[in-house]
Amino acid sequence: MTARIVSTARNFVLVSAMTVFAGMGLASVAFGGDKTPTDMFLGLTPDAAKGYEIMMHEPMATAIMKVADLDRLWIVWEEDEKAKAEKADSVERRRMTFERYGWAKRPGDSVPNLPLDYTEDGKGNLVTNCFSCHGGKVAGQTIPGAGNTHVDLTTLATDVSRLRALEGGNDPAQVAEAIAPFKTPLNYHKGVTNAVIFAPMFIALRDPVLAREFNKHPELLLHHDMNPPPWWNFKKKTRIYTDAFAPKTPRQLMPFAMSPLFSDAKFRSFEPNFVHIYQYIEELESPKYPFAVKAELADRGKVLFEQTCAECHGTYGPGGKFPNRVVDIDEIGTDSRRFHAIYKERREETNKGWLQYYGEHPIDLESKGYLAQPLDGVWASAPYFHNGSAPTLWAVMNPTKRPKVWKRTEDGYDQAKVGLEVETLDAVPEGLSSRQRRMYYDTTHIGNSAAGHTFPDALEDDEKLAVIEYLKTL
Ligand code: HEC
Ligand code: HEC
Repeated sequence: MTARIVSTARNFVLVSAMTVFAGMGLASVAFGGDKTPTDMFLGLTPDAAKGYEIMMHEPMATAIMKVADLDRLWIVWEEDEKAKAEKADSVERRRMTFERYGWAKRPGDSVPNLPLDYTEDGKGNLVTNCFSCHGGKVAGQTIPGAGNTHVDLTTLATDVSRLRALEGGNDPAQVAEAIAPFKTPLNYHKGVTNAVIFAPMFIALRDPVLAREFNKHPELLLHHDMNPPPWWNFKKKTRIYTDAFAPKTPRQLMPFAMSPLFSDAKFRSFEPNFVHIYQYIEELESPKYPFAVKAELADRGKVLFEQTCAECHGTYGPGGKFPNRVVDIDEIGTDSRRFHAIYKERREETNKGWLQYYGEHPIDLESKGYLAQPLDGVWASAPYFHNGSAPTLWAVMNPTKRPKVWKRTEDGYDQAKVGLEVETLDAVPEGLSSRQRRMYYDTTHIGNSAAGHTFPDALEDDEKLAVIEYLKTL
């Protein structure tokens, strides 16, 4: 039984991970001595609509569960949850299932059918797609491209393993909580993932020419929760990811498809798909704030924003400019674990390989700090900071009053503080199951600090409120 559990947990992660530097070692299969720059778009006409279709319909990972599991995962839930599911009708049970794992309804679906997060492979299986982490639900509405701030990969992987155990005649209660190979946690909190760290793990599973080697251990891994930036800001960036260490190319988006179950040829065959996916991300527009805005207050906020914030975050509206400014790690002062997570040796290796076009589009060997993000549609990208530690814009603006521990409601939107509707606490309550504990975002946990970004303290309280009002309009 142990073997089965391990392999289920492993497959789960292998197909779920977003990695940023898995191209190590491909130098040996370079295109000879050709010096002409590579056409990143392969001579294709990038087509955004096609990119969306590909994500929804083309499996680019290995199956993690069956479509039929959607209606039976509840069988392995905790007793009280299971009892509720048993009494519910099929529509309500689907809703409960989506809520538990943090899935978004597909746009246009009136009742939950397939989650936005998974693609059917034509054989009755579900395969993770980009929207597992990049397809969010904001105030109850699905917004593709918003980070998925409900996702709980640990709960899903554990339940799938338990269901398989039950089907095999074993006791699901004996199945340990899911982790990935090399003791890699999938997430510490609901709504975030350890996505960046899936990378060294992938790399350790391949040799320099991408042949797969399943028994090597990667270097020390600095696990941490990450909250993906919204895709609609990709168009403004010259370099991507939290530390802006990587170039904008289709290949840079591909490691997610690098399941060790795929040969290197299979992996590379996905490249044309990523030309279109790149274009989809590039063209995505930010969503407009759907609630009321006090126009006068917002106008005052604009002036203050331009004085206090614009040097880093840019200006908005006609003639707006985005500076792509990376702020030194000591100056920004937000959690530094992400900053230290990707080793220089790994970066050097990666730059020799296919993912970086053999050095033509390298990643930075050292990061300086974190990118001051574009703030378009910022109302919809709560929680804030790269680790998702600040639940509202009010918390961003009030560094000394940020909640130590918070728990969101499923779909509540706080129009006063702008962002997630939360309960705040001084400590995580005692006696919770680990699944319940993941719902309390604990900023004292390693990698989850809500410190730093104290720049708003240059403003008085009423000025902060004006800036928050202005941020609603972006
Ligand atoms: C397991 C969760 C997960 C999955 C699945 C995932 N990503 Fe990500 N993605 C992230 C996280 C977390 C980040 C932020 C990483 C960082 O900044 O270091 C990110 C960052 C990005 C960025 C950079 C955005 C920016 O503005 O800097 C792009 C583009 C992106 N992902 C594309 C994709 C694509 C395309 C797929 C599917 C092929 C995908 N991701 C699948 C979690 C995921
Ligand atoms: C010196 C540069 C700098 C200044 C000045 C600055 N910021 Fe930031 N800001 C950053 C950086 C860097 C981050 C990313 C921090 C992280 O993710 O850990 C950030 C993050 C944010 C975020 C979270 C974005 C997200 O999607 O998670 C908001 C909101 C924000 N800043 C608003 C403001 C406002 C409002 C002001 C002015 C009162 C301001 N900032 C001033 C650099 C700056």
